[in-house]
Amino acid sequence: MHFDERRTHFLQDRLLRRLKECRVDSFYGYYRLLISQEGKGELAKLLENLTVNETSFFRHKVQFDLFQKFVLEELLKQKQARGEYSVRVWSAGCSTGQEAYTLAMLIADGLAYYHLRNSLPVELPLPKPLVAPPWRVEVLASDISYSVLRAGQEGSYGESQMASVDYSFRLRYFDKMGDRYAVKKTLKDLVHFDFHNLKTEYLPQRNDVILCRNVMMYFDEAEQKRLVEKFYRCLNRGGYLFVGHAESLLGLTDKFQMIHRNSGTAYQRIEVRE
Ligand SMILES: C[S@@+](CC[C@H](N)C(=O)[O-])C[C@H]1O[C@@H](n2cnc3c(N)ncnc32)[C@H](O)[C@@H]1O
Repeated sequence: MHFDERRTHFLQDRLLRRLKECRVDSFYGYYRLLISQEGKGELAKLLENLTVNETSFFRHKVQFDLFQKFVLEELLKQKQARGEYSVRVWSAGCSTGQEAYTLAMLIADGLAYYHLRNSLPVELPLPKPLVAPPWRVEVLASDISYSVLRAGQEGSYGESQMASVDYSFRLRYFDKMGDRYAVKKTLKDLVHFDFHNLKTEYLPQRNDVILCRNVMMYFDEAEQKRLVEKFYRCLNRGGYLFVGHAESLLGLTDKFQMIHRNSGTAYQRIEVRE
């Protein structure tokens, strides 16, 4: 993890909380604890304290509009022409799951709308599944924090977390349980949560789209460059990468071209001729 001078105060504050909790009276003592055998559990706790997990459904909606109206539409057209019927999208740094569930809802809706305009090569089973065959959809949601992954897997959100979810989505994709909203099983089945540290070499391959938003800003420039290079390899040919609205690939790579529509921005993998 990288903390520049603007975030030193944050780092110090979070470290002091752990020192107090562990009844250790110096940073050096705490460091000795972290590198010791019995400090392994503490390292995980420190990590939970140092990650920023802020997220929301439909966060920065213009990007999701671009995703559904342009990127997904293009993907479905090209895949159908090739007779490939699988879509794989990865929310890298998914926090408590809202980004991944937003993607799943938009893909399910996008596919249903696509079916209305394009005939399918197979007859649909009844009752109609959320994703009609032959299409298969997988949304991979990954993070470095186990506690946010657990929350995402649980898929239960309070009223304030639901503020940005329209009633048409709430009615179709959530069950109201007391004062909380639980993601319906049919939608949950499209999303798969897994642990991945974006700094490691091995990352999930064969993605059509990767969303890595508001994560890279916590990496230094060299690490950002390495990550973008890894994302390039993790994407299928012509695949798309979305970063946060305060982030950009400018100066990090020349292997992606920027696509900008109605205030939304995405980056498409540039293919080198073989
Ligand atoms: C601010 S949240 C962004 C959530 C979501 N992408 C969004 O934009 O709403 C950043 C997430 O990145 C995760 N993260 C930070 N460093 C990471 C790493 N090295 N590998 C994987 N995830 C990481 C954090 O745990 C946190 O959940």
